[in-house]
Amino acid sequence: DWNSGNVIAEQVARIREQVGSARVISALSGGVDSAVSTALVQQAVGDQLTAVFVDHGLLRQGEREQVQNDYVAATGVRLVTIDAVDTFLDALAGVTDPEEKRKIIGREFIRAFEQAERDLIAEAAADGQPIKFLVQGTLYPDVVESGGGTGTANIKSHHNVGGLPEDLQFELVEPLRTLFKDEVRAIGRELGLPEEIVGRQPFPGPGLGIRIVGEVTRDRLDLLRQADAIAREELTAAGLDQEIWQCPVVLLADVRSVGVQGDGRTYGHPIVLRPVSSEDAMTADWTRLPYDVLARISNRITNEVADVNRVVLDVTSKPPGTIEWE
Ligand code: XMP
Repeated sequence: DWNSGNVIAEQVARIREQVGSARVISALSGGVDSAVSTALVQQAVGDQLTAVFVDHGLLRQGEREQVQNDYVAATGVRLVTIDAVDTFLDALAGVTDPEEKRKIIGREFIRAFEQAERDLIAEAAADGQPIKFLVQGTLYPDVVESGGGTGTANIKSHHNVGGLPEDLQFELVEPLRTLFKDEVRAIGRELGLPEEIVGRQPFPGPGLGIRIVGEVTRDRLDLLRQADAIAREELTAAGLDQEIWQCPVVLLADVRSVGVQGDGRTYGHPIVLRPVSSEDAMTADWTRLPYDVLARISNRITNEVADVNRVVLDVTSKPPGTIEWE
């Protein structure tokens, strides 16, 4: 019968056998799968592992600190954080097309990771232990979806910022290959990972970059980060996290409407709330949130976030609407 302690012991033994004394690198995204797979490898080979976390500036409030402080405290992993905010924002300047944004974010992620990798390879060469392995948080459903093939880095690239370069010469370490998401969460909890990471709802790799309809700029990201933090805080306080699959908060950056706030007329942006209920994200329905919770979120966002004077609710199922607006 299934027991997270047994799975951990089994995977740790397997990873040790696979890796030997070589070095391993891992890309942390802030999501559940990369967090748990990295923690397992850390448990198995300790300092032979280096985790790389790319801050692309499209993260939500507190996410970087969560990884840098809480995750590191819980795992003891050796972490390298790449601050690539300026690079990403420069590359995204003037871009409004959603697929173009995704391409740019994916490309810049690979560049940032490759730079970190070159530095680590140089360091590893200096002490004689080459980097041979790359950790991937591949789950059982991903394996089935891609036809069950094993081997070197053939990672589905379209849907994950974790989509890494295909010419990487690393062998993959995939300790979650036989597991489903709820099992991965159970293992993460058993390993003592922070609940904010283990219980996290889905969040797209391109992050807030695809939740600003219009050009992505620093100011707009700051504004959206605040609105998103308020919505998340209120949904959690209302005990609704289990009921909602996820709740994208979207900034309509190129839309303005008239409002009246404080002493006078304003001309600000709308924020869209997109709470959805779903089993697998293939189809979804809009979540009937309690009116009082919606009212609190709306009041707080319009009061606390400068330049936002309207909050609207998306009441579209999927299909026809996708969960994300871009
Ligand atoms: P849609 O918008 O297609 O989203 O209904 C379905 C699920 O996928 C997530 N999503 C993404 N995840 N990179 C990701 O890693 C992406 O580019 C991306 N686009 C959408 C979305 O949050 C939802 O859970």
